Amino acid sequence: MSNIHFNEEKGSELKLFTPGPVYIPERILEELAKPNDTHRSQPYEEMHKKVKEGLQELLYTDNECLIFTSSATGVMEACVRNLIKKDEKGLFLSIGAFGDRWHNIGEKNGKNAVKRGVEWGKALKPELIKEFLEEDDYAVICLQANETSTGVYNPIDEIIPIIKDSGALVCVDATSSMAGVKTEIDKLGIDVCLASVQKCFALPPGLALASISEDAFEKAKDVENRGHYFDFVYFQKKSAANQTPTTPPIPQIRALTSQLDYILNQEGLEERFTRHTQLGKRTRIWARDMNLEMFSESGYESNTVSTMKNSLNLDYAKMVKQMLSKGYRIVNGYGSLANETFRIGHMGEISIKELEKMLEILTDIISGLRLDKLD
Ligand SMILES: Cc1ncc(COP(=O)(O)O)c(C=O)c1O
Repeated sequence: MSNIHFNEEKGSELKLFTPGPVYIPERILEELAKPNDTHRSQPYEEMHKKVKEGLQELLYTDNECLIFTSSATGVMEACVRNLIKKDEKGLFLSIGAFGDRWHNIGEKNGKNAVKRGVEWGKALKPELIKEFLEEDDYAVICLQANETSTGVYNPIDEIIPIIKDSGALVCVDATSSMAGVKTEIDKLGIDVCLASVQKCFALPPGLALASISEDAFEKAKDVENRGHYFDFVYFQKKSAANQTPTTPPIPQIRALTSQLDYILNQEGLEERFTRHTQLGKRTRIWARDMNLEMFSESGYESNTVSTMKNSLNLDYAKMVKQMLSKGYRIVNGYGSLANETFRIGHMGEISIKELEKMLEILTDIISGLRLDKLD
């Protein structure tokens, strides 16, 4: 069947309710197909400038916004390499799989990487952050805004000011919330805020974005062995000329220019954030009506991805397969949560109406699986 095999002729016809990569609108696919000049040309520089300005508006920041040819993980590694000196400590606040990954990247790069966190499903709270900060001096502190594995959104508006008071640089992984959830970079004083574009931006994978503060650029200048490909200092120099250090995926950047224009000038920022809030709420109401307990702590649920426990003791692998046969992809839990949870991604361009339609089909499939269990 075309939905489950590589469709050479038409491409995928699946409706993706995944936490990325997500469904790409036709207008974006058309942008990707347009021809471009080279990355060392005036048309490219004009386009690059538009992206930088668009990102600054989206992120409520005057910080320089950089474009990387990588996925988000590349920029997570860049933070570690550019900002933590040999004799310094980095604190990695983990609430799930991606927090663990960042700490692991710190260790693999030979940095003095300390991990602190909470039980998966829970969020970081101000009191706990204060306790962690009392334990030691940290030069850089890294955390997720939205932890995609557990479906938890950390209260960053409350905890980042506390972290900033410690004098550390703060790096925020907003991979699965940037362009879906409001993040006011300058108000909070976030030094690096990063994401890849295959999630709330609704673009194909291959690009990552980050806002970088002056303090972070200054710090990077003093850090040895920053590497070459992700050197913030080199990026800053090229970015001032509206360029990237190496050849970027130019069609992707064209599509991003168009998507930023759509987000800022057609849908509108507040409207986009509100739509994501409604998508989150609607999914949680559905879960409650189905007697499916949320994995995420009450009050800290993500509005871009919902993670549900297996409260009905269903065969989630079968459920995901049956959804595929109906033309929808949802996903089971991430990593160690694979059989314990399943996830519905509701980010990017999904409308409430599309979500409702998918949930109706999922409800029928779950009813069938419950009936099967009675046999
Ligand atoms: C919170 C978070 N951080 C980092 C990543 C890694 O992103 P990428 O695959 O773009 O490197 C993901 C991917 O799902 C994510 O959800």
